Amino acid sequence: MRVIASANQKGGCGKTTTAINLSYSLSQKGQKVLLIDFDPQAHATMGLNVKPSDLEKTIYDVITPKKNWLWGIEDILVPVKDNFDLAPSSLILSAFEQELSGLERREHRLFQAIQPLKEQYDFIVIDCPPSIGHLCFNALRACNEVIIPIDMSLFSLRGVAKLIEIIIMLKDKIDHDIKSRALITMYDRRTRYSRTVLEKVQAEFGSNVFDTVIRYNIRLRETADLGLPVGDYDKNAIGHLDYENLAEEVIHSRETRAYQNLNTSNAAQDMLQKTEEYIDGAAELPEDESLDSEIEEFSGYSSQSNYSQMIEAIARRSTDSFINDEDGI
Ligand SMILES: Nc1ncnc2c1ncn2[C@@H]1O[C@H](COP(=O)(O)OP(=O)(O)O)[C@@H](O)[C@H]1O
Ligand SMILES: [Mg+2]
Repeated sequence: MRVIASANQKGGCGKTTTAINLSYSLSQKGQKVLLIDFDPQAHATMGLNVKPSDLEKTIYDVITPKKNWLWGIEDILVPVKDNFDLAPSSLILSAFEQELSGLERREHRLFQAIQPLKEQYDFIVIDCPPSIGHLCFNALRACNEVIIPIDMSLFSLRGVAKLIEIIIMLKDKIDHDIKSRALITMYDRRTRYSRTVLEKVQAEFGSNVFDTVIRYNIRLRETADLGLPVGDYDKNAIGHLDYENLAEEVIHSRETRAYQNLNTSNAAQDMLQKTEEYIDGAAELPEDESLDSEIEEFSGYSSQSNYSQMIEAIARRSTDSFINDEDGI
């Protein structure tokens, strides 16, 4: 079983779109896939047309210390298609961040929860929240591979740097090896800025970037709103073809020598250094290129999401109410 997290601290860079459509394409190729929605915002759940409000139990009920392992992931599964199951999420998952403080082995809860599933699935894909907290730590501890979607913005790359620091820390502290690779998303070859960023990222990240590039495709946006993987909506959509290619590359990457021989810590260190060099270098892009008018299409996603602050605020509120509940018992 391979466990792959789709992670980047930045919101809106394509984590959920990648988690849904990679899972779908892997399942269409005969792989047994479980997608774990590990974001309280539940976009992967809603993106597969499952309403969090209709669910009795979600991934929160599996991993919260409050339920003391009463439920396993098998108790919350929602079948999506042949070979494709979903472990759904809901907003209550945001309480998890606060519930864990002081708890022993708190980073291992998702890892423990997926252990019984080893024989059942070929792939587990984890859709991470856009924040670095206990949820993200749990996802990284549970996975052996990370896909880091990078849209065409520097904020995305800053998210990469933070993530790689944690990957290095997990290797140093608990000898947990994670293979990490960047995935270029929302690429538009018509913009000079996109082309420049792509060339730079490919040149500098080398084998730590997927050959597959996910192009900007409006169908991906439409289908997320409709609650469908893009391939179910339009088999000819560019977005579908790109995720098919990504699934092929993921399946075959096992056999790629360069990929196998990567030493996690060195590779991650290298990637971190390259990211920092890249961020410094990109600041020197000529102004007319970085402000290319065509890039306006992405402007909604070019600024840092304030989602993580929102989640923190909700988490704080939820914990307060738990504390009050407990006081009342
Ligand atoms: N390749 C793409 N082309 C066009 N729109 C995309 C693409 N990838 C993602 N999107 C859209 O961008 C928005 C953010 O993507 P999402 O996957 O939700 O990001 P994240 O999970 O990182 O926050 C969504 O509206 C999604 O439909
Ligand atoms: Mg998301």
